[in-house]
Amino acid sequence: MTEWTRDKRYRKLEDTTAEELETLKETVQLSRYRQTYHIQPSTGLLNDPNGLIYFNGAYYVAHQWFPLGAVHGLKYWYQYKSKDLVHYEHQGVLLNPDTSYDSHGVYSGSAFEYEGTLYYMYTGNHRDAEWGRESSQLIAKVNDDGQVEKLLPPAIPHPPAGYTQHFRDPKVFERDGKLYAIIGAQRANETGCAVLYEAEHPEGSWTFKGEIQTSLTDFGYMWECPDYFQLNGKDVLVFSPQGIAPEAERYQNIYQSGYIIGELNFETLEMTHGEFIELDNGFDFYAPQTLIDEAQRRVMIGWMGLPDTEYPTDCEGWAHCLTVPRTLTIEDGKLKQKPHMNLRSLRSNRETALGYANKFLKQLHPYEGEQYELVIDILDNEASAIEFHLRASKDEATVIRYETDTQLLKLDRFDSGRLPTPVEGTARQTYLDTPLRHLRIFVDTSSIEIFCNEGERVLTSRIFPKKTANKIKVATDSGQVYLKMTKYDIEGVKQDA
Ligand code: FRU
Repeated sequence: MTEWTRDKRYRKLEDTTAEELETLKETVQLSRYRQTYHIQPSTGLLNDPNGLIYFNGAYYVAHQWFPLGAVHGLKYWYQYKSKDLVHYEHQGVLLNPDTSYDSHGVYSGSAFEYEGTLYYMYTGNHRDAEWGRESSQLIAKVNDDGQVEKLLPPAIPHPPAGYTQHFRDPKVFERDGKLYAIIGAQRANETGCAVLYEAEHPEGSWTFKGEIQTSLTDFGYMWECPDYFQLNGKDVLVFSPQGIAPEAERYQNIYQSGYIIGELNFETLEMTHGEFIELDNGFDFYAPQTLIDEAQRRVMIGWMGLPDTEYPTDCEGWAHCLTVPRTLTIEDGKLKQKPHMNLRSLRSNRETALGYANKFLKQLHPYEGEQYELVIDILDNEASAIEFHLRASKDEATVIRYETDTQLLKLDRFDSGRLPTPVEGTARQTYLDTPLRHLRIFVDTSSIEIFCNEGERVLTSRIFPKKTANKIKVATDSGQVYLKMTKYDIEGVKQDA
């Protein structure tokens, strides 16, 4: 196995041969965990979604990419184009680490349109001779001929006074005719926050406005990937804090991502808000970013993975994928996340069964598969607890368990097959706000995304079961549950380039 020395991690794509890349690609293609309808790297490691935008009638989705192995090395942006956020065409590398400012990684950032021109703002990661980090925020512009031009020197050359070099992931938005960039930062006292810059024109000067004042003054040591937007008359701040200790069933993963809702005053930068709520209650979800779709809906895509974690595909030379797009709304003061309506176009063969489940674990119907969307309506529930076993075989199952009295919903991957390490517990759980009546579950070769009660909760996880683990089973602890189950097969749409 490769020993990932610093030299190897910072090797550039152009220093490899076409042959070497082809060999890497061939090895990756042999993996039995390749996804069929999620964005995944053809080689190497994918992380944060970047530069999401609907521009001139097409969607653009990029992501962080280290091409040469399943480690966090020298990062590029790799881009896709799409008509619908479901079917994608490869565009290839969008941003290369080819300036002195981003020589050690083209880190995360966003896309925005200004007077008909497409721009990107991203973090340039540079290491000095002592390997000290230097972060700046750069702008790249897409010229009329489609060429991407980096505008140098950086729009924001260094962190503001009072903050460390952990200063990254600008998300640009427009408000009242002004451009703003919200950026993840770390105060000199090593606590995390988000700061705001302002500009009249993307190519003009970007001035520091200050820090977003929330009541979360001591909430982790770094906030990555902040995103700000208005939704249903409210201000929403999404970010991925690092360094939050677990609390009962909350904050169980190594790093978190969540949101606060309230009102942000753009003069004082004070934000009055409710509690921080996690966006996802599964195992693998981080660094999400949002965009506005063609019908003006707010849509979010996340990285289905976490930093500082080893995944079972690492030894195959690839890691991670992006989540399916989710449409956001605020209902009853909370963010709801529903699968984007275009995902319906993935549905092929449909099978529906009405039935009941009791305490005998059984396959209600001869449903089998590794890639499908499963819609479960709970018509009537007299059971104390219900269990759905997906990707099940004699010795494997990914278990979704619902306890009626407490409305506890649990995802257990103890028997899911191979697990990412370190294993921080094999179950994640959450209390639903309302009794479980609806589940929409997207299963791909090595992932599961569970949407509960029309977007009330989502649990997203990678799973690494055997190919033979392809059954769907249901049981109760006691009592019966009446169900309507609809399974739509999904045939692969995203093939490797
Ligand atoms: C989040 C993150 C970002 C950074 C990028 C580097 O996963 O650490 O803060 O820009 O990944 O790949």
